[in-house]
Amino acid sequence: MIPTKNASQIDKMRESGRVASQALCSLAELIRVGTTTAELDAHAREIILEAGAQPAFLGYHGYPATICASVNDEVVHGIPSDRRLNDGDIVSVDVGVLLDGYYGDSARTFAVGSVSPVAARLIETTRDALFQGINALRPNMRLGELSATIQESVEAQGFSVVRQFFRHGIGSRLHEDPQVPNFGRRSDGPVLKPGTVLAIEPMVNVGTHRVKTLDDGWTVVTEDGQPSAHFEHTVAILSDGIEILTEWKT
Ligand code: MF3
Ligand code: CO
Repeated sequence: MIPTKNASQIDKMRESGRVASQALCSLAELIRVGTTTAELDAHAREIILEAGAQPAFLGYHGYPATICASVNDEVVHGIPSDRRLNDGDIVSVDVGVLLDGYYGDSARTFAVGSVSPVAARLIETTRDALFQGINALRPNMRLGELSATIQESVEAQGFSVVRQFFRHGIGSRLHEDPQVPNFGRRSDGPVLKPGTVLAIEPMVNVGTHRVKTLDDGWTVVTEDGQPSAHFEHTVAILSDGIEILTEWKT
């Protein structure tokens, strides 16, 4: 069963989405050579708490931090640490918040200093895949349309989409139905009724689509050690169109 939200629930999700985006975008100016990912984590936590919200990931199945910060070959769920960002790194930052009973979830990959041409193209391709997916969304369309759009836009650039992790519906739980693959056929999956809210989050690798989880139980890395990028928006499908609930201000 895919839970749908009524107008007042969407209003609440707009607020949690706004705080998630605000915390995420506030990190942009801190992301430079020498910053540690733990500093990013502390800053995001402060912004979220000041807004009267709670970090959504902290304690989720035991996750130990407010944000995920995944550097270079780390795909998602990198745990913030004293690791300093270096010139040429790319860092994917994921922020989730809980406000008034509803979740918001958003992620972006940032370039640190000057990055290689392939890393720059990876970031651009992943961002494009997210927006091409969002632009394809229509009320009452099949989920497979979204998945296939994302996959095709990534593969047209010669990169690959991660297949071992599905993305998710979101609402009064961080993860709810439906499961959202970033690959698949247009004719697959459930029909998306008005009131459905999805976390759309392509994870894109330069090389193989295959990933593995490190011994810390969280950090997902590419099997071949090549870089990976990740962008995410929380998006509501409404009767008269779609709305990005985590719009980035910068
Ligand atoms: N945006 C990711 C997701 O929704 C981040 C989850 S981190 C976790 O799956 F710690 F909460 F798992
Ligand atoms: Co998510």
